[in-house]
Amino acid sequence: CRVHHYKFNVVMKNSTKLCSTKPIVTVNGMFPGPTLYAREDDTVLVKVTNHVKYNVSIHWHGIRQLRTGWADGPAYITQCPIQPGQSYVYNFTITGQRGTLLWHAHILWLRSTVHGAIVVLPKRGVPYPFPKPHKENVVVLAEWWKSDTEAVINQALKSGLAPNVSDAHTINGQPGPVSGCFSQGGYTLPVKSGKTYLLRLINAALNEELFFKIAGHKLTVVEVDATYVKPLKTDTVVIAPGQTTNVLVTADQNAGKYLVAASPFMDAPIAVDNVTATATLHYSGTIASTPTTLTKPPPQNATAVANNFIDSLRSLNSKNYPAKVPQTVDHNLFFTVGLGINPCPSCKAANGSRVVASINNVTFVMPTTALLQAHFFNISGVFTTDFPGNPPNVFNYTGTPPANLATTRGTKVYRLAYNSTVQLVLQDTGIIAPENHPVHLHGFNFFAVGKGLGNFNPKKDPRKFNLVDPVERNTIGVPSGGWVAIRFRADNPGVWFMHCHLEVHTTWGLKMAFLVDNGRGPNQSLLPPPSDLPKC
Ligand code: C2O
Repeated sequence: CRVHHYKFNVVMKNSTKLCSTKPIVTVNGMFPGPTLYAREDDTVLVKVTNHVKYNVSIHWHGIRQLRTGWADGPAYITQCPIQPGQSYVYNFTITGQRGTLLWHAHILWLRSTVHGAIVVLPKRGVPYPFPKPHKENVVVLAEWWKSDTEAVINQALKSGLAPNVSDAHTINGQPGPVSGCFSQGGYTLPVKSGKTYLLRLINAALNEELFFKIAGHKLTVVEVDATYVKPLKTDTVVIAPGQTTNVLVTADQNAGKYLVAASPFMDAPIAVDNVTATATLHYSGTIASTPTTLTKPPPQNATAVANNFIDSLRSLNSKNYPAKVPQTVDHNLFFTVGLGINPCPSCKAANGSRVVASINNVTFVMPTTALLQAHFFNISGVFTTDFPGNPPNVFNYTGTPPANLATTRGTKVYRLAYNSTVQLVLQDTGIIAPENHPVHLHGFNFFAVGKGLGNFNPKKDPRKFNLVDPVERNTIGVPSGGWVAIRFRADNPGVWFMHCHLEVHTTWGLKMAFLVDNGRGPNQSLLPPPSDLPKC
């Protein structure tokens, strides 16, 4: 196994999109940032140096970080941020994982421009469980605001209202021509007739799930969130922020140019956003003037298209890649996720109130000392372990919301015994509006064993759970006005963040953390922190 050394310099850089220029926070001056390559079982050391005015931290989204929570990255959860002028070396080993993941800033809204791909290849000599592609391409999808994204969220927090939606989406950093700025270029994906390509799709957007489509071409999904799936043929992929999807595409159409489109999916759109990012699939040898064949992206609220795709995904569950679904449950948890309204005397625009978000009615309050440090060094007063395992007030989650929409505030964690098995039902409350919440769990992969619309029925619904080959992920959409059930084994000691990967909801408080105790055996406890761990 090899050791890879990377240098990530966080620097400002001017970037021009949509015919206007603004300074953005980047890694090494790139948007999207550099791709991190490794193989399964390799060790990666990334020295992150902060040259900007903001505090910074980087998260390696989906990397399990077995016993190395110190390298996970969420600010004030596993580490204090890297202050301006300081650096920190993220040191981790990639155990039992291969596939596409992403890295991104995990503080403020810096993720909007500070993100990039992680490509973990199988161990040397181990083939993919699908035909070897001619070439592989990383395709990073994201959002772009004309204004500074920190200003966008700060203004929203002041007003108590929701922030503006982005001005465009991007495919590998480029929106393609959009109304008002037709000179804007687009990404080109070169292909050769008859060859098959592996596209490593990543949704690095802040707040929007996206549909991805290529005109005239079928996509075969072979992996999601760095876990292999049964090959799934589809016209359209739907991908939530934080999720990754590997697809095979064969250049089997008439030579020419074909439109590639990334467009928003919001099943209950509060804000209208019809902006589609475009790129071009270009057969080599085709004359540039050949017109692009058009593709119609699904409408913004095409819930059926999205559900049809999501519900069809299954773990590969082969001899070499068995789905290790926990068959028994030690912790049976039920968490509501959704929005709420709290008083805010200074929020004039929202009539003295503000939109908040919560899990089991707890709006998470960020601590000023990292939870993992408080846990490891036994610092009291940073968090409490009374996060409720069930909703304190039961109500009809998908019907009329309760009269009182206020939430409680606190820095609460839920404690799990080492190696215990967890079943967690995540129920959308539909308060203010039903919304699809892509929930991400740090430190683990989980199996999505069940999903449904309306209120979860604890008597009937578990009978229909798939405990054989459910899809394994690190980020799952809680359906709008419905629920999803996940299972995982708490075999990674430490403090692990769980939150909605729509950044606006995270900011509003849709987040919590699990504290997993050390085991008693060898190699079952959290390792001590590295000496350069940032101080608060
Ligand atoms: Cu990709 Cu806690 O996030």
